[in-house]
Amino acid sequence: MKKNVALITGVTGQDGSYLSEFLLSKGYEVHGLIRRSSVDFRERIAHLEGTPHFHLHYADMNDSMSLVKLVGLVQPTEIYNLAAQSHVQVSFDAPEFTADVDAVGVLRILEAVRTNHLEGTCRIYQASTSELYGKVEEVPQNEQTPFHPYSPYAVAKLYGYWIIKEYREAYNMFCCSGILFNHESERRGETFVTRKITLAAARIAQGKQEKLYLGNLSSLRDWGYAKDYVECMWLILQNEKPEDFVIATGVQHSVREFCYLAFKHAGIELEFQGEGENEKGIDKKTGKVLVEVSPDFYRPTDVVNLWGDPSKAKRELGWNPAKTSFEELVAIMVKHDMEKVAAEHVASVMRTNLAEYLEKGVVK
Ligand code: NAP
Ligand code: GDD
Repeated sequence: MKKNVALITGVTGQDGSYLSEFLLSKGYEVHGLIRRSSVDFRERIAHLEGTPHFHLHYADMNDSMSLVKLVGLVQPTEIYNLAAQSHVQVSFDAPEFTADVDAVGVLRILEAVRTNHLEGTCRIYQASTSELYGKVEEVPQNEQTPFHPYSPYAVAKLYGYWIIKEYREAYNMFCCSGILFNHESERRGETFVTRKITLAAARIAQGKQEKLYLGNLSSLRDWGYAKDYVECMWLILQNEKPEDFVIATGVQHSVREFCYLAFKHAGIELEFQGEGENEKGIDKKTGKVLVEVSPDFYRPTDVVNLWGDPSKAKRELGWNPAKTSFEELVAIMVKHDMEKVAAEHVASVMRTNLAEYLEKGVVK
């Protein structure tokens, strides 16, 4: 039997790391695309390096030649195109780079497959997004809901969505978009709102940070657990027909609710008072203001009402959107960050002690 060979772009990211683990557990040969950087960003996949069937290759989503060569070398049976400039707020500051990676990058992958004559054998998953619904036109959102992208990131991703659909129809390729709603984890990038909150709650609870500054507290999201969502990426490519799917939990919460629950897990009960820029999260026990609003985190246009309807994925892929609840997700993230902050404290005390001992000549 022919071996399943996966190529993952964005392998160093949150989803890429979980997907690698998932595919390795299914017996795949996994190849990951990494790009050169002056510091090592391979923390999330460090535990996989050196294991059999896991290989890393240098290339870049901005460099067609590197993609053509890589696809030719790996001869993948499945490609998971997860690489992206994935931060919505950053896309307002770097819109051209975002378009190059998130829009044209998708085209480059499709053309790399065609150039290597693999369009009949290689299935392609495109990491699409609920941001396509943007300034939402209905709630909850499903596969039929009209798109209204509301950031340079979302506009770039809309191109990715349509070019996938176009190549599916024009060249009969098995390529699909997973329209994923927000999914988080203990591996989430530290500037996305959930991780920013869980890390701050842990630091504040352990006396390492005074205050947390956030933007729009009323923004609503459908948050799931990234580990559950990577299974769906795989299921989409195992489906009989190439189709697009909404992946979400079907449950919606505000940033404020996430914040309240995260602090509660860290042992602090917050009470929110005031409105808009004057809203504050106050420690009920001490009366100290721990959360404040800063307009620095407002976006020129913000997506404020994402709520997914995962019925199609449930019905046709047999995927369970309720595997990890919102409450469990917050608990997992806070537990991880409480331990991380405590470990950083121990390491810093040890470093200070060692420096002192060295200075006093106690150790050489
Ligand atoms: P992430 O943690 O930000 O990871 C992004 C990945 O893309 C990283 O591995 C990054 O590499 C890579 N990348 C960026 N620019 C690149 C380039 N020019 N060449 C090669 N690689 C490049 O994102 P994520 O949360 O795992 O999300 C995975 C994908 O799903 C993204 O496409 C995102 O837009 C999409 N998505 C995410 C969510 C969500 O809630 N997480 C929801 C819907 C859709 P470095 O490590 O070198 O920076
Ligand atoms: N990042 C951030 N930082 N967001 C904040 C903050 C803050 O301090 N305060 C409030 N927010 C609000 C944002 O305005 C937004 O409405 C919401 O919290 C979520 O922001 P993010 O966590 O940055 O995620 P996102 O929804 O913009 O984008 C993520 O999900 C998309 C899927 O809907 C990313 O993972 C995208 O790549 C993904 O496509």
